[in-house]
Amino acid sequence: MEFIKKMQGWKLWLIWLLLSLVATYLLAMNAWQGADKTMFLPGQTTVGHYQIELKCDACHTPFMGVKQDACLECHKAELDLVNDSHPAKKFTNPGNAHLLEHMDAHQCLTCHKEHVPKQTHAMGVTVPTDYCFYCHEDIGKERPTHEGLGFDTCLDCHNFHDNRALYEDFLAKNLDQPKHAVKAELPLKTLLRSYGEMQSQSQQNVAVENQLKGQEHENWMLSVHQQKGVSCNDCHMQPMEASSVKQWTNSPDYNSCRSCHNAEVEGFLGGRHGMRLAQNLSPMTPQMARLPMKAESMHKELSCNSCHTAHRYDVQYAATDACMSCHDDAHSNNFTQTTHYKLWEKEIAGDIPAGQGVSCASCHLPRVNVGSKRNPEVRVMHNQNDYLRPNEKMARPVCMKCHGLEFTLDALVDSTLVENNYDRPPSVHLESMQWVKDRVEARESN
Ligand code: HEC
Ligand code: HEC
Ligand code: HEC
Ligand code: HEC
Ligand code: HEC
Ligand code: HEC
Ligand code: HEC
Ligand code: HEC
Ligand code: HEC
Ligand code: HEC
Ligand code: HEC
Repeated sequence: MEFIKKMQGWKLWLIWLLLSLVATYLLAMNAWQGADKTMFLPGQTTVGHYQIELKCDACHTPFMGVKQDACLECHKAELDLVNDSHPAKKFTNPGNAHLLEHMDAHQCLTCHKEHVPKQTHAMGVTVPTDYCFYCHEDIGKERPTHEGLGFDTCLDCHNFHDNRALYEDFLAKNLDQPKHAVKAELPLKTLLRSYGEMQSQSQQNVAVENQLKGQEHENWMLSVHQQKGVSCNDCHMQPMEASSVKQWTNSPDYNSCRSCHNAEVEGFLGGRHGMRLAQNLSPMTPQMARLPMKAESMHKELSCNSCHTAHRYDVQYAATDACMSCHDDAHSNNFTQTTHYKLWEKEIAGDIPAGQGVSCASCHLPRVNVGSKRNPEVRVMHNQNDYLRPNEKMARPVCMKCHGLEFTLDALVDSTLVENNYDRPPSVHLESMQWVKDRVEARESN
């Protein structure tokens, strides 16, 4: 005790500070490794992130702060792809830099905080949505069409990030389209190359106890994999943990599909079916969900097999029946009453050409070109969240394959249609197209 008395006050203070920092750090680290991290959450996590909320370090640094880089690591590609209307680089432009004085719009955290449910709106937005005012105060002067519009209406017709279906030029290009296109069809999928020789005896390299029998064998014999020469070992021989030696496994996971279907795997991991697996957490189950789910499916684990039962890989089953075995909200349950579904039944029956029916997957797992314009490669996008919200994201890759732009935007903005799953023509009409027509006419007459 003597030596403490001898020390000067400031040194004591410094030691106390150091010790308490270390203690906090250790406590935090200890708790991090412990079982229940939920107790450290200051409030409910947003709909977008609650599945991975226990992975604190996906967003937080050890001392709890959250860096922009964490957000960008998971979301940059997506924002680049949609040609973000307000990327950070727009504000590094000296002409716009002064706008940041009102609102630091190049920091994600300005608008997207976490664990603050009372403050959180749709899509994890944590600021009141009339802030467009800070930077677009003069819009009424610049555009007579916008005179007198309230700043709480901006988001009815524009998005902050993704305006691909809403740009003036795009609207102008797609004026006066009929409600329903003459050739209402989805693009056909591009096929992969075949693998090896046709192997009707493809069980030849498989131990007897692992061979398929009965119904499972019949499923296999009818499957595209069998027909294209994929062998049992392509899926079942997988590297064992911590070694590269391959061994037979009875339950191959999504990694076994990667060698041939990497795009589908990445898509699946990026959306709300696979995002837990992407963080090495246990698979998502309907039990954990916030959305309503069917009671009998509560313990099903989400994987490729949730929709593609091994060894059948029946994509028609995957496109609607599989979804309906889990999802139990009004929108999903009403689907079988719709014109779209009747078209889907006709497609399955072979009464109309493939691509003219509409399944759940037509809208939520759309067929998109992942190749170039000249060398198209059409794949099924397995991240169902990439085209979900804001819902105009569906306009270009999905609805406009079959409907005109004006009809599409009216239908998507009519929130009552979500519940009945687009079973009625829209009952609202956006003035937007008329504004664009007027502007085009004014431009032409000048
Ligand atoms: C998906 C990203 C994400 C995950 C996962 C996450 N958080 Fe957060 N958390 C945030 C963000 C963003 C903030 C707001 C930070 C700010 O306002 O500067 C925050 C704020 C906090 C705060 C308030 C203190 C502060 O720094 O402002 C605490 C405490 C916290 N988180 C704890 C946790 C714990 C404990 C976990 C894991 C059980 C966790 N968080 C998981 C994103 C996340
Ligand atoms: C580990 C990856 C990861 C990190 C880190 C992360 N997110 Fe996310 N985020 C996701 C996934 C996956 C979803 C759900 C799928 C989707 O909506 O795209 C999501 C959803 C969202 C949504 C909601 C979208 C909706 O439709 O409701 C917003 C907004 C968002 N993230 C912003 C952020 C911000 C801001 C940060 C940084 C604080 C961040 N994210 C950090 C992976 C991540
Ligand atoms: C000035 C406010 C603001 C800032 C800053 C901001 N966002 Fe957003 N964000 C929004 C709004 C508003 C929405 C709702 C949809 C829309 O209007 O685009 C949204 C939606 C999203 C979504 C879901 C919808 C989509 O288009 O994918 C993601 C993901 C997202 N933001 C990520 C980010 C990330 C990452 C950053 C930082 C680089 C960021 N946001 C910065 C306001 C903001
Ligand atoms: C921090 C300032 C800031 C805020 C807040 C802001 N914007 Fe912007 N916005 C800009 C700048 C800067 C541009 C680019 C103008 C240019 O390129 O000349 C822009 C462009 C746009 C565009 C044209 C898109 C394009 O790519 O040409 C639209 C539409 C838009 N903003 C809508 C909104 C809406 C809606 C809100 C509110 C949800 C909003 N903005 C909030 C600064 C802001
Ligand atoms: C009823 C739909 C509607 C509402 C509400 C609306 N806009 Fe617009 N906005 C449009 C249309 C359509 C255009 C293009 C034609 C025009 O200017 O008349 C446009 C153009 C713009 C542009 C130029 C973007 C470009 O493509 O060059 C900006 C910036 C903008 N609006 C901001 C705002 C802000 C800020 C608000 C809120 C006060 C708002 N808008 C409200 C429909 C709307
Ligand atoms: C496209 C990948 C793929 C191919 C090719 C494949 N399987 Fe499978 N197989 C799986 C998956 C995935 C499971 C796990 C199913 C589950 O867990 O529900 C499985 C399960 C099995 C099981 C365990 C069955 C059970 O009831 O648990 C056996 C045995 C099996 N497969 C044998 C074969 C044989 C023999 C072949 C070749 C004739 C073959 N598989 C081809 C993906 C494949
Ligand atoms: C060795 C390569 C290979 C592996 C490994 C593989 N597949 Fe395939 N898969 C193919 C080929 C070839 C086709 C034929 C269709 C095509 O050309 O696109 C196909 C088609 C499919 C189809 C579409 C069936 C149809 O009728 O259109 C699904 C679904 C599928 N695979 C799922 C899986 C899943 C799930 C896994 C992992 C458990 C897997 N595949 C592993 C090569 C593979
Ligand atoms: C939510 C249900 C669902 C899950 C989970 C799912 N798929 Fe699919 N998948 C589908 C549907 C539906 C189609 C057919 C869509 C169509 O024909 O337009 C499809 C088509 C495919 C195809 C063939 C078409 C193509 O070009 O992409 C492959 C290959 C495939 N899936 C692989 C996988 C793999 C690998 C996984 C796991 C990482 C997986 N799927 C998980 C529903 C699912
Ligand atoms: C094994 C059960 C299961 C199957 C099969 C399944 N889903 Fe899901 N789905 C879920 C769960 C669980 C979630 C996450 C819900 C939550 O977080 O509240 C989800 C999320 C979604 C979301 C995102 C919802 C949102 O608000 O972000 C969409 C869209 C979706 N599923 C569509 C489909 C479609 C389309 C199919 C069929 C092609 C399908 N699902 C098949 C269980 C399933
Ligand atoms: C014609 C296109 C279309 C069809 C077909 C369709 N959906 Fe949707 N679905 C949408 C749109 C658009 C939204 C987004 C609604 C919004 O947030 O504005 C949506 C939303 C969802 C959501 C999220 C709901 C929520 O509250 O977050 C789920 C889950 C979903 N759909 C599942 C399904 C299932 C399962 C099927 C088939 C039984 C299906 N959908 C058929 C267009 C469609
Ligand atoms: C593969 C083509 C196709 C796709 C994709 C598609 N539809 Fe349709 N849709 C149709 C056809 C065909 C009809 C029936 C038209 C008729 O009445 O003759 C229809 C009808 C409708 C109706 C009116 C329903 C009724 O019973 O009157 C609405 C609303 C609608 N679609 C909205 C959408 C939206 C929103 C999307 C995108 C999310 C979409 N559709 C995607 C083909 C499609």
